[in-house]
Amino acid sequence: MSQTIQLPDYREQSPKVRDRFRALKQRPVKLEVRGLCREFESASGTVKALHDIHFNVYRREFLSIIGPSGCGKSTLIRILSGLDEPTSGSVLLDGKEVRGPGADRGMVFQGYTLFPWLTVKKNVMFGLEVNGGSGCSVEQDALQWIELVGLSHAKDAYPNQLSGGMKQRVAIARALANQPKILLMDEPFGALDAQTRAQMQSYLLQIWQNVDVTIVFITHDLDEAVLLSDRVVVLKAHPGEVQEVIEVPVPHPRHLGQLITPEFLSTRNRLEELIHPKSSGEEKRLPIPRMTQVGDDVF
Ligand SMILES: Nc1ncnc2c1ncn2[C@@H]1O[C@H](COP(=O)(O)OP(=O)(O)OP(=O)(O)O)[C@@H](O)[C@H]1O
Ligand SMILES: [Mg+2]
Repeated sequence: MSQTIQLPDYREQSPKVRDRFRALKQRPVKLEVRGLCREFESASGTVKALHDIHFNVYRREFLSIIGPSGCGKSTLIRILSGLDEPTSGSVLLDGKEVRGPGADRGMVFQGYTLFPWLTVKKNVMFGLEVNGGSGCSVEQDALQWIELVGLSHAKDAYPNQLSGGMKQRVAIARALANQPKILLMDEPFGALDAQTRAQMQSYLLQIWQNVDVTIVFITHDLDEAVLLSDRVVVLKAHPGEVQEVIEVPVPHPRHLGQLITPEFLSTRNRLEELIHPKSSGEEKRLPIPRMTQVGDDVF
């Protein structure tokens, strides 16, 4: 006898989860995004990459941003980091308008951005020194952050001696060493294989539980978004707009075993619905000419 599993509504929250959200929203607003628009001029006209984006991020919240390719996720995070400017609207960090890059924002990108000529320890020390640190305390601080990401054994290794996951852990240590108010991550695990990625998700959850840092995290991976986030901002494309902000009903502390719980699956289904709507029709067929001579129908 076949049975279909009835999933709860993704908006249903257990009393414990509801209390957690209530407490989270009473914390100070760390980052405030107000009516952000970004337009690009191109040969074929004006591209509206972001349109009227509003959201708040609370202190120590883990907020993910997902959406189809080209919906403006990277543009948004570049504006949050101060590397790009909005056409209109503003970003406030601790109530102060963001104008240009600053040490109060840590960045981790998909591509490995370590200096290949510096050891792990020197890579982490670099940011501290740029921001005015010097002497023994810089080295000590660096070692402490390297320990936090579980890489003490590799502190004297060079980036080309590390795996992809290890490189991203150094990038996280380097970003956190400056004790930023906010950590901005743009698909940081996008280049990793599935197993390393799962391991990195678990590391990031552990780090976030132990450090006073607020995280804005961009991903394409729906499971990753549900597993890591307090809330998920779902964007839609052309123009990039907020479609829905989802409060993830999965209880904390999070772990990979929760991937098959009813509240996890119902949230994931909702994200799937928003990102890949069924009404988008048939799978796109490629115009590939038939290039095989085998005559039977076996495929
Ligand atoms: N410097 C630029 N000049 C012109 N258009 C740009 C520029 N940067 C981004 N765009 C356009 O803005 C839109 C959003 O791009 P963006 O890279 O932010 O998307 P994304 O959501 O990060 O995509 P992906 O998921 O593929 O990384 C796209 O249509 C892109 O072509
Ligand atoms: Mg992008």
